[in-house]
Amino acid sequence: MIRCKIELYIMKECILILGACGQIGTELTQKLRSIYGNDAVIASDIRAPASGISELAPFEILDASNKEAILKVVQKHQVTQVYLLAAMLSVTAEKYPEKAWNLNMNSILAVLDLAKEKHIQKIYWPSSIAVFGPTTPKINTRQKTIMEPSTVYGISKLAGEFWCNYYHQQYGVDVRSLRYPGVISWKTKPGGGTTDYAIDIYFKAVKDRKYECFLSKDTRLPMMYMEDAVNATIALMQADKSSIKIRSSYNLAAFDFTPEEISEEIKKHLPDFEISYQPDFRQKIADSWPQSIDDSEARIDWNWQHEFNLKTMTKDILNHIQKK
Ligand code: SER
Repeated sequence: MIRCKIELYIMKECILILGACGQIGTELTQKLRSIYGNDAVIASDIRAPASGISELAPFEILDASNKEAILKVVQKHQVTQVYLLAAMLSVTAEKYPEKAWNLNMNSILAVLDLAKEKHIQKIYWPSSIAVFGPTTPKINTRQKTIMEPSTVYGISKLAGEFWCNYYHQQYGVDVRSLRYPGVISWKTKPGGGTTDYAIDIYFKAVKDRKYECFLSKDTRLPMMYMEDAVNATIALMQADKSSIKIRSSYNLAAFDFTPEEISEEIKKHLPDFEISYQPDFRQKIADSWPQSIDDSEARIDWNWQHEFNLKTMTKDILNHIQKK
């Protein structure tokens, strides 16, 4: 009995990241390793990273929708927590609806099942502003409001939120989630998202001093710098269980801007930068999402606070890209 207690006490966390080579996975893996140590964070993805596996070691090639394969890795490393970042984003999901549904849904159900069967103790899974739709009030969108998503991605995220809540209520699964706004980074580029313009614009500004935007100049969307997104994710996962009141997914926000406003901010550093607008099919996706988000529940329940705004983020990103 005593031995068992001591073992429980010293049991170390071991974290498995599914989708570790993606935009958020890359930076989350680095941050978690700096906190928990390299060996306590197992990176995994469907294929090896471009830079080579050794760079990301410990690394496993893993299909996030294959429950048996995940279980093998969980047992091999005695994994206690899973961060499931693998997903198909809004633009790609419109092109491949069935593939998107299968990946986005089977992966969360596989991981929820593993927790239900007590193979793992805690799950992180991201949702998105895409759970909202054209009928949702657009300004300071509340946690609980009309939710009628009009994209495949949004439908899959909303269904996933309901599953998370269901597994928590029925089986006591400790699953935690955030509805990310557009997440802006410079280290790893995203693929297939509608908010990706706000990343491309910085790279094109530095390289060509001009950018053609696929959204109209006044399309306002909620956004966040990667550093804040990673900090929010880890804060949520480290928060005391009793403070987590929402088991579907928390609204999360930092700031919001239009393509015109981000280009004005860039011009303060690169005065000869020019933006032009050529809205395409992605405009409709952006128009279906909120312009700003009310995230008071996250701020109250587990003390969420963002650090970066458009000005400080722009300065930081341009500095890094120019050095690159
Ligand atoms: N950034 C995502 C996208 O644009 C939204 O969560 O698809």
